[in-house]
Amino acid sequence: MTVGREQVRVARGQLWRLVKVVKMTVRPYVILSCAMSLDGCIDDVSDERLLLSNEADFDRVDELRASCDAILVGANTIRRDNPRLLVKSDARRQAREARGVPPYPVKVTITSTIFDPDLKFFTSGGEKLVYSPGSAVGRVQARLGDRATVVGAGEEAVDFTAMLHDLAGRGIQRLMVEGGSTIHTQFLTQGLVDELQLAIAPFFVGQPGAPRFVNSGAFPHDAQHRMILHETRQIGDIVFLRYLAPLPLEGMTC
Ligand SMILES: NC(=O)c1ccc[n+]([C@@H]2O[C@H](COP(=O)([O-])OP(=O)(O)OC[C@H]3O[C@@H](n4cnc5c(N)ncnc54)[C@H](OP(=O)(O)O)[C@@H]3O)[C@@H](O)[C@H]2O)c1
Repeated sequence: MTVGREQVRVARGQLWRLVKVVKMTVRPYVILSCAMSLDGCIDDVSDERLLLSNEADFDRVDELRASCDAILVGANTIRRDNPRLLVKSDARRQAREARGVPPYPVKVTITSTIFDPDLKFFTSGGEKLVYSPGSAVGRVQARLGDRATVVGAGEEAVDFTAMLHDLAGRGIQRLMVEGGSTIHTQFLTQGLVDELQLAIAPFFVGQPGAPRFVNSGAFPHDAQHRMILHETRQIGDIVFLRYLAPLPLEGMTC
């Protein structure tokens, strides 16, 4: 029996759809979004949050947030910056409700320690999820009370694959990761990012202690395995870069 071209095309289409469905079930599509200085810093060493983007770029980030089911940041970012992580635009929140999803994406964080439940992350917006190692769940939940649901994932530290699997089970199909360095590093070194969105601000920070985009690590995308540059855009004085990050196949270089 010979297989025709049309049959191969249909089979390929079906296989691709299946791969997409399996991927969605196992983990959400992950977009890592970050603003940095020309020397790769994502903040400075002062107590004030360093503003790297301009108004138009903050609006782009608001649009991206509105397109996601959940937004994740590390515990240190919450403690240092006290962000609300909301969709600011009324029109975007209304559009979300019109398509049957809550006005605000779910907020997600990761911690092994206890938190101040009065931080803005917990007092604003919609549902909040906190992932902790199994041994810490009880005390973190006791501290946060009804401000968040604490979920165990991993033993000594949060296992990111288990966390993403749990998020997928809660209906999160599109996850935006918004910092900081420790979180970026783990997502990228573990090959858990599908798309990278970077905003480059036209200045230097120049301080040795300032947090960088990522810490040291073994990244699957190295000089032999390059990401795919998908889009570049000028947003006022900001350069916006969008990379796709398919995992390199074993033994393949590009
Ligand atoms: N420019 C930007 O786009 C941008 C965006 C966001 C943040 N930032 C900056 O990033 C800096 C913070 O970065 P950071 O690296 O210090 O902190 P971070 O990545 O925000 O958070 C690190 C914390 O997350 C928790 N954590 C991370 N991985 C974990 C794991 N596997 N298991 C359990 N807990 C885990 C730990 O919390 P516990 O210590 O509570 O256990 C850890 O201390 C701030 O200066 C902030 O301004 C910049």
